[in-house]
Amino acid sequence: MNMLYRTFGRTGWQISEIGYGMWGMGGWTESDDAESLRALHLAVELGCNFFDTAWAYGDGHSEQLFNQLARAHPDKLLYIATKIPPENRIWPSRRGFKLRDVFPADYIKEYTEKSLTNLGVETVHVQQFHVWEDDWAEMDEWQRAMEDLKRDGKIQAVGISINRWEPWNGVRTLRTGKMDAVQVIYNIFDQNPEDELFPVCDEFNVGVIARVPFDEGTLTGTLTKDSKWAQGDWRNTYFVPENLNASVDRAEALRPLIPAGVTMAEMALRWILANRTVSTIIPGMRKEKNVRANIATSDGVLLSDDLMRELKKHRWDRIPTEWSQ
Ligand SMILES: NC(=O)c1ccc[n+]([C@@H]2O[C@H](COP(=O)([O-])OP(=O)(O)OC[C@H]3O[C@@H](n4cnc5c(N)ncnc54)[C@H](OP(=O)(O)O)[C@@H]3O)[C@@H](O)[C@H]2O)c1
Repeated sequence: MNMLYRTFGRTGWQISEIGYGMWGMGGWTESDDAESLRALHLAVELGCNFFDTAWAYGDGHSEQLFNQLARAHPDKLLYIATKIPPENRIWPSRRGFKLRDVFPADYIKEYTEKSLTNLGVETVHVQQFHVWEDDWAEMDEWQRAMEDLKRDGKIQAVGISINRWEPWNGVRTLRTGKMDAVQVIYNIFDQNPEDELFPVCDEFNVGVIARVPFDEGTLTGTLTKDSKWAQGDWRNTYFVPENLNASVDRAEALRPLIPAGVTMAEMALRWILANRTVSTIIPGMRKEKNVRANIATSDGVLLSDDLMRELKKHRWDRIPTEWSQ
């Protein structure tokens, strides 16, 4: 077992630098619970101890898979992060949305109870807001609701999951000192959390969950301009031609840089691991072979400085649009 651990901000928890993203198994097409559970068990055996889920991932289904996993490993401390869905069910939130329409206090408590039941645990380690607007930073309502939940032992830490391609949209909130954790898209393309967000995370000792390390699949190098998913899979609405064509071109441009014997997925994870502000990366994985490959990158071996410098040039700043979700 080679897993390395990092400190999760001010909580002091030692969490595996490769964590687990549990969205796909909760809602993407072609998910198979038996296969997902085999992958989850393997991850635990290989030292993974941090799992990211959300009530919205299959209306509790992904959380219930964690419940089964945790019951099978009563001797292990498995850290669980989940999320409260926006009450108006609009992902992502938009400028001008009111906190009272998205996360009223009673609703924060109600959904924490639902998650506790689904997860089969007495306390959630990280309770996150599944969308966020920085204008809500100083508002008393969410702060008091989360403080009550902490006092009652229902949650241990509070986090925000920042909307896609808006890493700035949480900076003011982290500066309140009321957030213990932040989840943000960070990968070879999406380098912009380095600009403003990560320095604030360092300053306020906030745990950082780097999500979507493969850009939803682009950075595994397996997509083509003809890629399609089964009917009902959200990726059909995300990888619209405009996005798919540009994403595949960007991935192809990386191919000549991949060191011999390394996959694009491995290079993508090692690029993120080089950043010490990141506490854990949460690749989505439903298959044992992906678990094995991804966890194997947690061995302390870094990409060369030359390659890191080259990869810096592949930064891709994107602006949220109607298909980006
Ligand atoms: N708003 C939010 O808060 C939000 C939004 C998006 C994601 N997230 C969190 O972030 C996690 C990660 O994001 P994601 O799952 O959307 O995307 P991702 O991690 O960028 O990509 C997942 C895809 O990569 C494939 N994959 C994993 N390891 C691989 C490997 N070694 N080689 C080839 N392919 C590999 C997976 O396949 P299989 O699944 O078939 O194994 C899956 O199709 C989610 O699961 C969720 O926990 C949060």
